[in-house]
Amino acid sequence: MPAIKKVKTAIIGCGTICKNTYAPNLANKYHIIDLVACADRIPERAAYLAEQYNLKVMTNEEIYNDPEIEIVVNLTCPESHYEVSKAAILAGKHVYSEKMMAVTWEEGQELYKLAREKGVNYTIAPDTFLGASWQTARKAIDDGLIGTPVAMTCCYSSNYQMDGDMVDLDPDHFMFVLHPGGGIPYDFGGYYLHNIINLMGPIKRVGGFCKTMYPDRIYRNPRHPLYKEPVHIDTPTSIAGALEFESGAHGTMLITSDSACRFFFQIMGTQGILILNDPNFFGGSVKIIRNGGVPLDPNLNDKEPGAWFTDPLSYTLPITHPFRESSRGLGVADMAYAIRNNRRPRADCDLGYHAFEVIHGIWKSGDSGEIYEMTSRCERPEPIPSLGLTGTAEEFALDN
Ligand SMILES: NC(=O)c1ccc[n+]([C@@H]2O[C@H](COP(=O)([O-])OP(=O)(O)OC[C@H]3O[C@@H](n4cnc5c(N)ncnc54)[C@H](O)[C@@H]3O)[C@@H](O)[C@H]2O)c1
Repeated sequence: MPAIKKVKTAIIGCGTICKNTYAPNLANKYHIIDLVACADRIPERAAYLAEQYNLKVMTNEEIYNDPEIEIVVNLTCPESHYEVSKAAILAGKHVYSEKMMAVTWEEGQELYKLAREKGVNYTIAPDTFLGASWQTARKAIDDGLIGTPVAMTCCYSSNYQMDGDMVDLDPDHFMFVLHPGGGIPYDFGGYYLHNIINLMGPIKRVGGFCKTMYPDRIYRNPRHPLYKEPVHIDTPTSIAGALEFESGAHGTMLITSDSACRFFFQIMGTQGILILNDPNFFGGSVKIIRNGGVPLDPNLNDKEPGAWFTDPLSYTLPITHPFRESSRGLGVADMAYAIRNNRRPRADCDLGYHAFEVIHGIWKSGDSGEIYEMTSRCERPEPIPSLGLTGTAEEFALDN
């Protein structure tokens, strides 16, 4: 059999998520990836990563100009996504970018057009929808286990403050989640929307509200150089959206970063309900409630009022797909196999672009008081097959 021709890959942006997750996964987990280089505008970060994984430290420009490097993984903070992705696309590189594609809708439109013109693959994170639980849920829907999906709802709440461990002490990158392009709509919105689109299909119209709750706060971490100084939050911290899918189904999405941590995500079909996990993760339970699965209260008979109002029984589905554990970088591996097999990546930029427009549309709708008609569309991504693979063989599921 032919040996796999690995895909030479470089990372730009060696911060938190790179160090903790992407770098170990890209260096060790995916056989198709040959991680060769890294760059960061803070030289010590690139140097640290290079030492850990035996990489070459390069400048951004050296990476763009290196003819051997095929994929650039853009793990910079959201304000830099546009600049780095644009330069890499213009250099003819395939780009995998952390969410979201840019800060403004106009920048996103430009990047999308540019990638299409240059004919390069361009994928936007998150890639959790390729994980075991989400592909299991997708198969459950495709197999008709809940009948035809008619509605979905999700709610995620969290607590983003200027005092947690995520506060970077470098003044240029304080707390990306509370800066433009960050914030809960862009951060968790991406996780939910990629999964919503993967399960329910493209969205036709959106409405809703985006709001910056409590825009004036103070730095509360004594380690922070601006301790007790005021900070103005200039990105929405709460989003409430109504979604109309092309299929005719409806959905709601409520996400806030001003409360305690909790999530809720379910899809309702004509034959039952899927209860899903936190889309920030690749694994987790997938539960199903089926019509008729209502247990009878032993104290009532089915003719008595109340019998139908007991909690329906939910069953946990067996997880049928690979990549249950922390698999960030799976979208990069899928892109690498897409390059070698001359197909589109499952997380093609249609998906990231469509998700980005949903957030933009909800925000616009809140400002204008009008329903926003989506201009982009994307097919549901090609599912990952369930082949009973385990361990390092799981990657075989992508090689098509
Ligand atoms: N931190 C998380 O838990 C997490 C989780 C999932 C996804 N993400 C996403 O990953 C991205 C990065 O997040 P992070 O937490 O790692 O941020 P970070 O600030 O810790 O790291 C970003 C790095 O990019 C570098 N950088 C910025 N602009 C650059 C440029 N033009 N050229 C070279 N280097 C540049 C910075 O110096 C920094 O080291 C964000 O888009 C975020 O949405 C973060």
